Amino acid sequence: MDETPAPMMQTQAGDPGAFARLDLARLPSPAFVVDEARLEANCRVLAGVAEASGATMLLALKAFSMWAAAPVVMRHLSGCCASGLWEARLARARFGGIVETFAAGYKASEIDEIAALSDTVVFNSPGQAARFGRAARAGGADLGLRINPEHSEGEVPRYDPAAPGSRLGHPVSQLEAAHLEGMAGLHMHTLCEQDFEPLRRTWDAVAPRLAPHFGGLDWLNLGGGHHITRADYDRAALSAFLRETAAATGCRIFLEPGEAVALDAGILVGEVLDVMENDGPIAILDISATCHMPDVIEAPYRPALLGEPPEGKGIAVRLGGPSCLAGDVIGSYRFARMPRPGDRLAFLDQAHYSMVKTTTFNGVALPAIWLWNSETDALGEVRAFGQADFEGRLS
Ligand SMILES: Cc1ncc(COP(=O)(O)O)c(C=O)c1O
Repeated sequence: MDETPAPMMQTQAGDPGAFARLDLARLPSPAFVVDEARLEANCRVLAGVAEASGATMLLALKAFSMWAAAPVVMRHLSGCCASGLWEARLARARFGGIVETFAAGYKASEIDEIAALSDTVVFNSPGQAARFGRAARAGGADLGLRINPEHSEGEVPRYDPAAPGSRLGHPVSQLEAAHLEGMAGLHMHTLCEQDFEPLRRTWDAVAPRLAPHFGGLDWLNLGGGHHITRADYDRAALSAFLRETAAATGCRIFLEPGEAVALDAGILVGEVLDVMENDGPIAILDISATCHMPDVIEAPYRPALLGEPPEGKGIAVRLGGPSCLAGDVIGSYRFARMPRPGDRLAFLDQAHYSMVKTTTFNGVALPAIWLWNSETDALGEVRAFGQADFEGRLS
């Protein structure tokens, strides 16, 4: 067995922002808290890029689906990208605006409803397009094909849809004019938490292969993975690129960021249940890596902890969850004093790709969902979960 540890993914976020002044004692534990002021500020930045570039900005629901916050998002963005029937229903019912659906594979039993809900249905292969294109068009959707640019910028192969052997997108080296018959547009998504330059390089690599097809296409969707709301993202370069690319291709351009919408807009609050000693201090929390923040294990990455003393200061304590999984470990963190049962803590940047991924494995409680407004200090519960949510998924 290969015992080599997976490379740690560098997390790009971690600024506590307004959360530094939120009193965690006002919340139940565990709980996700989303700051609607920060969410709105992110959406304003995205709307600014849309305005400056002429591109259309959609929210990728896979990253952030908190529909209680849909009114905030939809004040600024044009709609959603969905990953299948359930997200398409969510997009249509709770968010509104444009609905674009992409799935790596569709089912015959679902395609009619997906097409009725979606403005655009994107296929992962010419085979899927041949099987379901007619039904999707009959349902009122326009059609697109996802291509794989076969150009990698990804830091971690698991998050790189252009990695060798990828199942995501029709390899651009196999693209023929016949594959685009009936297609209104092309979709590509290969980036993950990236700045502008990787997009530019990807486009430079793929554009010569696509150029013969530009005349016949209405739109081009450049996917997600653009960390547009990060302070150091080069938004002026992105806007200029989008304008130039629209002019060169004659296409309307779509972007569908997920993470950038909710970046640094939420925390996960937890509580220390016990402190023990085994080759150093260990604190058991009511937050579980495997149940509440699975990317900590899957990526893997180390989420930032609110108020952690700087490197070289404080006591190092390993934090882990209440589940039976030996690997339910969040990481080693510095504390100003030894944690005690009942202490509150919070992991930063948990609004995206955490709330959407929670499970009740081991009967571990689901975090409640709270909404805070860091400008008005209004704080309220959106939803709490209980035994019925756990049992309801099991039989
Ligand atoms: C097709 C597609 N679009 C958009 C996104 C959103 O990416 P991000 O949240 O990194 O912006 C993803 C993420 O996996 C995706 O697969």
